[in-house]
Amino acid sequence: MILVQMSDMHVMPPGARAYGVVETSAMLPPALAAAARLTPHPDCLLLTGDLVDAGTPEFYAALRTLLQQATLPFRLMPGNHDGRDALRAAFPEHTYLRGHDGYIQYAIEDYPVRILALDSVVPGEERGALCGTRLAWLAERLAEAPGRPTIVALHHPPFACGIAHMDAMALTEGRAELEALIARHPNVERVICGHVHRAITRRFGGTLVSCCPSTAHQIALDLAPDGVAGFTMEPPSLLVHAWVDGALVTHQAYIGEYPGPYPFG
Ligand SMILES: [Fe+2]
Repeated sequence: MILVQMSDMHVMPPGARAYGVVETSAMLPPALAAAARLTPHPDCLLLTGDLVDAGTPEFYAALRTLLQQATLPFRLMPGNHDGRDALRAAFPEHTYLRGHDGYIQYAIEDYPVRILALDSVVPGEERGALCGTRLAWLAERLAEAPGRPTIVALHHPPFACGIAHMDAMALTEGRAELEALIARHPNVERVICGHVHRAITRRFGGTLVSCCPSTAHQIALDLAPDGVAGFTMEPPSLLVHAWVDGALVTHQAYIGEYPGPYPFG
């Protein structure tokens, strides 16, 4: 199984620029092309939230148009910039978006590694939360298949990464409960998230958390307690999660066309 994870596309209508700088809608097609060039062809593309910069029908129409170029089956997850209702309305054939108890949570059962997607959104806020309802859904799903390798995906990282302004809007509710639940299920190969627009790895609940960079702008790497909140135009990248030799291996792959590969001999 090869799963491509993209995150924080922040798509806007064509020509619009996030923060007056980033033409995000122009940066998704190269990301889709990078995924399409991977060999072998990946099985699935998971988009882990902040699909659009503002969760309105106009923005989702732009996303829908861009995703028509996707050569992989894709699944959508919400982030803090998304709107659940507008997302569902824009992708009516994605019936899994109807979710449970109003939340967009679902299981992907089609591959050797099971994927459980969580909804960490708090409408109108940047921070994330997992309430008892959402955690109970995860507990039920994990109890269904205790022996199956599993990825748990959510938008907000359930940890402090050291970038102060992002830590203030991380998963602020349900973090300890999620970690305890994961710790009881050693079949969870990985927790994956987005939101911080950087590649970050951390130990969590006896497994690893991998944070995915953005396909557009990256958050400035500033670990000072009073670090400035800002973004950079470092090369965007995506994560490739591959099931190799009985374990989940994660590769960070830069988006863009680069010289090579050159043969060694
Ligand atoms: Fe984002």
